[in-house]
Amino acid sequence: MELGLPAVVRDPALPARVRIHEVGARDGLQNESSLVPVEVKAEFIARLAAAGLRTVEATSFVHPKWVPQLADAEELLPRVTGLREQYQGLRLPVLVPNERGLERALARGADEIAVFASATETFAQRNLNRSMAEALEMFRPVVTRAVEAGVGARGYLSMCFGDPWEGPVGADQVVTAGLRLLELGCAELSLGDTIGVATPGQVAGLLEAFDRAGVPVERLAVHFHDTYGQALSNTLTALRHGITVVDASAGGLGGCPYAKSATGNLATEDLVWMLHGLGIETGVDLTALAATSAWLAGRLGRPSPSRAVQALVGAATLPSSTG
Ligand code: HMG
Ligand code: MG
Repeated sequence: MELGLPAVVRDPALPARVRIHEVGARDGLQNESSLVPVEVKAEFIARLAAAGLRTVEATSFVHPKWVPQLADAEELLPRVTGLREQYQGLRLPVLVPNERGLERALARGADEIAVFASATETFAQRNLNRSMAEALEMFRPVVTRAVEAGVGARGYLSMCFGDPWEGPVGADQVVTAGLRLLELGCAELSLGDTIGVATPGQVAGLLEAFDRAGVPVERLAVHFHDTYGQALSNTLTALRHGITVVDASAGGLGGCPYAKSATGNLATEDLVWMLHGLGIETGVDLTALAATSAWLAGRLGRPSPSRAVQALVGAATLPSSTG
């Protein structure tokens, strides 16, 4: 075994390649208590692309008062769209809740958008100021117009396993909400464990329920937050059910400002260590990625929560105040 790389033992039951949907610059930075300068965000995105990530969610065109951390979306996106020429196949999706957000995103060169719904009423109200039904009506023209403009559209579904106000969320409820998002025209549906409470049996149950509902697994992605340390086991379960698109956040940054108890996403480095160990291709240079997360941790003034980043980079390169 080479230092810094996992030993490889291939499992033929698992996919040969996984596409990582990197959300650190959006899901990660939306949750920072301090405002991160736009040039740091742009450099972060450029480093993620240089490390081999080919889907790098850049920011959100939401109401700037709702998420002040991403209020610089207009300024940020044009700073990074040039990376698409430099790195073939690079996609830079942005979150868009409504037509106003879509117009802002298209004016700044967005080539892919994502709408974000909830499987529960309480979170729909808290996150979007709308009921679930009203939120869908808000998204309908967004997805239609995006598709007409040749812009890819993804749908996120939050609270797919548990909700901090409503408790456990049943698979049938999630499938019903997910089908509605797919019917709007979203090419892909990302199933969010917003508060990181899911366990592998639940993940298997939900994916089997989508299968029974006739949704091809190729249209699904998983989005695990790591509050209870279950994100990797949940991911492995999802891979065993045919999932090949996994959302993750460099260095384990993340959370949701409107979901109490949401912590960071599954760390991309922890994910890549497992995938490469299983002989699954990602296209990611793990060393470059961990160095990027350590660099950002230095800018944020605290260590990355990712175990793989800590192991690969070591405490020496992180700020001394962070231990
Ligand atoms: P609202 O207050 O109901 O907005 O917020 P409104 O439609 O009533 O409009 C009020 C004013 O805001 C209007 O201005 C609009 O033009 C303006 P006025 O006419 O009064 O001058 N406005 C906007 N301005 C700029 N950009 C916009 C925009 N929209 C309206 N896009 C809204 C409704 C949806 C806008 C608000 O609730 C919002 O922005 N929510 C976003 C919350 C958010 O970003 N949450 C985090 C992302 S979701 C997440 O993290 C979960 C995920 O990671 C998956 C998982 O983990 O589960 C994806
Ligand atoms: Mg999230």
